[in-house]
Amino acid sequence: MNTTKRYTVTSALPYANGALHLGHLAGAYLPADIFVRYLRLLGKDVVWVCGSDEHGAAITIRAKKEGISPRAIIDKYHELNKGSFERLGISFDIYHRTSADLHHETAQDFFKHLDAKGGEFEEKTNEQYYDEEYNQFLADRYITGTCPKCAHTEAYGDQCENCGSDLSPTELINPKSTLSGKTPILKETTHWYFKLDKHAAWLQEWIENGQVEGKEHHNPKAWKNHVLGQCLSWLSDLRPRAITRDLDWGIPVPAKGADGKVLYVWFDAPIGYISATKQWAIDNNKNWEDYWKSEDAELIHFIGKDNIVFHCIVFPAMLKAHGDYVLPTNVPANQFLNFEGRKFSKSKGWGIEMHQYLEEFKDFPNKEDALRYALIRNMPESKDADFKWDEFVEFHDNELVANIGNFINRVVVLTNKYYEGIVPEAINNESAASELASVHTIITELCQEIEKYNFRNAIQKLMELSSVGNTYLQDVSPWKIWKEDPECQAVKNCLHNCIQIVGFLSVLCEPFIPFSSDKIRALLNLPKVNSGNLASLLDLFKAQKSLIPAGHKIGDPTLLFAKIHDRKDHSRLELIEKQKADLQAILDAEVPPHEPVKDTTTYDDFVKLDIRTGTIVEAEKVKKTDKLLKLTVDVGFEKRTIVSGIAKHYKPEDLVGQEVVLLVNLAPRKLRGVESQGMILTAENTKGELCLISPKQVFGNGFVVK
Ligand code: 2FM
Ligand code: ZN
Repeated sequence: MNTTKRYTVTSALPYANGALHLGHLAGAYLPADIFVRYLRLLGKDVVWVCGSDEHGAAITIRAKKEGISPRAIIDKYHELNKGSFERLGISFDIYHRTSADLHHETAQDFFKHLDAKGGEFEEKTNEQYYDEEYNQFLADRYITGTCPKCAHTEAYGDQCENCGSDLSPTELINPKSTLSGKTPILKETTHWYFKLDKHAAWLQEWIENGQVEGKEHHNPKAWKNHVLGQCLSWLSDLRPRAITRDLDWGIPVPAKGADGKVLYVWFDAPIGYISATKQWAIDNNKNWEDYWKSEDAELIHFIGKDNIVFHCIVFPAMLKAHGDYVLPTNVPANQFLNFEGRKFSKSKGWGIEMHQYLEEFKDFPNKEDALRYALIRNMPESKDADFKWDEFVEFHDNELVANIGNFINRVVVLTNKYYEGIVPEAINNESAASELASVHTIITELCQEIEKYNFRNAIQKLMELSSVGNTYLQDVSPWKIWKEDPECQAVKNCLHNCIQIVGFLSVLCEPFIPFSSDKIRALLNLPKVNSGNLASLLDLFKAQKSLIPAGHKIGDPTLLFAKIHDRKDHSRLELIEKQKADLQAILDAEVPPHEPVKDTTTYDDFVKLDIRTGTIVEAEKVKKTDKLLKLTVDVGFEKRTIVSGIAKHYKPEDLVGQEVVLLVNLAPRKLRGVESQGMILTAENTKGELCLISPKQVFGNGFVVK
């Protein structure tokens, strides 16, 4: 077996039941792409696998909704997502499918191995919901009902999407089958369970201390806090997990008595990383085991935070139970990206899908990198982040255009103008020593940030690098000197050094904005960056040699980015404005959330209420409570004392003189020892804030509301 270190990088296999949006891209794919491109630039041995997760109830539910087969769904979305990833420069080594025969075999073999080993599985019979009309057991997602925690009426059998609680189907109040709409019955069924609890001790040791069987495995401090936090809270309560389901879509369970049962999608999906690696190895003449079973293999899973438990606890336990496999050295999960202040929601049209962006922005110059840049600048690395179109514009115009684009353009234009595009020689270059030293520091820091999965910081370093170039160019201002003295050595040195910085940028920007890297390389008349480029760049730096030697002929200037706020061409700004207007239209069309209307009342009952206008003349807090105010209200014919629960919403001093509407024939009652002789009318919004109802014009006191 080959013994050089190698990296096995995975990104969560997305379900092939819908188009992926920008939140997905920023969560598990773009960060991995940066990391992998960086490793490749260093010449490392790396494989990055991903693919479609094509089993599970999410697919069958979608198929039922659309009245087509699961196969039609997965074929459609596999191609759509794969294509969008490619167009955005997401450079997987393979984008596989869990419907592939190789995957079915791999997952079944994995199951059989654990089953034969003994002690890892147990079979249990219990009651599960069954739809009598459809003659089928119901997967958790096929049951909806009222959430016992928050009363949301459309909670699923495994989770409430309103309050985020994990549920089991029998916890739902008033459960209904999504197939027939009827109340399901409970019926006995047998399933295989993976005894996760049995792995608790070593998992704890591995996650908390980074040790396996007393040997150091990874540095636990390198794991993100939110990942560790979730793992530790799960570890306190590990139970056997069912790994089979009664479904007709999925991988048949390879065991006796398992007719009509398939592997649970979360059992087979992570094995999909292994089968994808196998397929890649076949296609590329490699040995897949080098990437999964060698001590020199580093396994890294890129995922969103909703997948943490499966990648940090369940799958590692499966790998360890199987034996021979390596465990992940890090799981740099991201948090969620929201969109303009809300969660992405396909049904509400809130958000933008990858393919949709590519279509709507088809004429936007360098659209792929404009998007990648905005998502990286605001990546949800340690907390949820929010994508905003205004920020997209700011990042684009103030950073991509004004910083990096402007610097590169000036250097290429000046080199062409002064030296016909031939890189001048630098002689006695010491005056630029401090700039070159800071360039070196920034490059080192940029690499460190990527290695720590801090991609937001890393991309800021890229901008710092071009800022150093811009400031240096501005300080020397060759355009002031060259006119007088075209042979001036200081100008030659400056442009020689600036061309080097452009060269560094062309390599270092590649993990983040690869399309721009290709364009910069073309401007420099150099081939696209390739494996090992960064390693040789760092070597040249150490040896104080130029990356781009004097005498090299660069290309003609062309613009890398086109400003959105352009005085003459408004098309790009209009495109952004359209995005914002579409969102506003959704907001405008929304029915505000409201409480259900109460049962009908009669006119006779209504007229019993005596509602009048009045003015608050005194207001003070009721002692020993922070909710109640004691108000004295002038109702024209007398003054009333009214105790009102508005203390959290109004200060007493602001209320004096306020006109109000009040119920004057409510039976008096004592609140905290004070008798209340009526009730002030208020309205409550969805946040629970109270607002006094008051006459629109000054009425005077004691008028009857009719
Ligand atoms: O949450 C999801 O979209 C799952 N399809 C992720 C699976 S990741 C892995 F295990 F394959
Ligand atoms: Zn809930």
